[in-house]
Amino acid sequence: MAEKSLVLIKPDAVERNIIGKILSIYEDNDLKIVKMKMLKVSRDLAEQHYEEHKGRDYYDNLINYITRSAVVALVLEGEDAIKKVRKLNGTTNPEKADEGTIRKLYALSTNLNSVHASDSKENAEREIKLWFE
Ligand code: PPS
Repeated sequence: MAEKSLVLIKPDAVERNIIGKILSIYEDNDLKIVKMKMLKVSRDLAEQHYEEHKGRDYYDNLINYITRSAVVALVLEGEDAIKKVRKLNGTTNPEKADEGTIRKLYALSTNLNSVHASDSKENAEREIKLWFE
């Protein structure tokens, strides 16, 4: 079924000039970029985006990191997009990620892990509204 997923190319990746390399992986896997923008994330937007992680020990790190410099936000559309994008991204900890995944190729650590993608249909709808409406 055709679905949409919200993806963020995070500060560590934007700072290292690998936006194009990451976008190519999505496009080469039949995912269409239907919306895209670059922005410096406000603390307010970051806190809304990561609201379900509030209280976790890594929460402050996560907010400081995502607000430190520009990110690219995009909406990808395609067959089974939510699951497909998560698979292409790889696991949160890049050391455990499968070969060929974005995080295996490019992430620096569990914190500086280069990309975010929606993890469910409900979160995809919420995140697309939050970032694009
Ligand atoms: S996930 O990716 O939703 O399945 O994530 P999860 O592993 O539950 O992590 C939720 C988000 O928190 C980030 N994260 C961390 N940041 C900093 N330090 C540590 N230790 C850490 N562990 C998890 C993780 O990257 C998730 O953010 P997004 O942007 O969704 O990847």
